[in-house]
Amino acid sequence: MTAKECIKERRSIRKFKDQPVDHALLAEIIETASYAPSWKHTQITRYIAVEGELKDKIAAECTGSWPKNGEIITQAPLLIAVTYIKGKSGFERDGSFSTTKGADWQVFDAGIATQTFCLAAHEKGLGSVIMGIFDEAKAASLLNLPEERILAALVPVGYPDEAPAAPRRKPVEELLSFQS
Ligand SMILES: Cc1cc2nc3c(=O)[nH]c(=O)nc-3n(C[C@H](O)[C@H](O)[C@H](O)COP(=O)(O)O)c2cc1C
Repeated sequence: MTAKECIKERRSIRKFKDQPVDHALLAEIIETASYAPSWKHTQITRYIAVEGELKDKIAAECTGSWPKNGEIITQAPLLIAVTYIKGKSGFERDGSFSTTKGADWQVFDAGIATQTFCLAAHEKGLGSVIMGIFDEAKAASLLNLPEERILAALVPVGYPDEAPAAPRRKPVEELLSFQS
């Protein structure tokens, strides 16, 4: 699989086979994802692998605003909670912001890491979907996140039981402009 194939063939997967994800395979994927770039190499992203009762509790109690997400999480064998350590990416040592973007670089780093994770998972035959719609406070509480950690996204993972077509992309002419 080339990088281009991996990027273009990855889809958001919302139906999974009833097959567990091997922990050693997950560790290998995380090791690959660790090569994602980050602000001053701060490497703030942390992944929590959630299975069993806790996964189903998050599905049941944190997806009221978009119940479809709850169904997907329940159906997936594994849920990755993507978290990050706050106060490092985009910050100076004295706690002040490094740039006018303020704290935004933290989520930027977590986003890069999340997509890198999803691509690494895809290369190993695993499907995933990045989720942004959930009750963040409730999920962080169920995950017992310490004060310095923020929950960025939830990512159900498993072997795909569907092969959706790629949603249409905007043409390059709309995406790219040149200036001189
Ligand atoms: C930040 C972010 C949040 C998303 N939140 C959800 C979500 O809550 N539920 C869901 O089913 N898909 C979610 N998606 C998946 C998008 O709907 C999907 O990436 C988009 O439709 C393009 O499809 P593709 O990933 O197959 O290319 C999210 C994607 C991103 C990047």
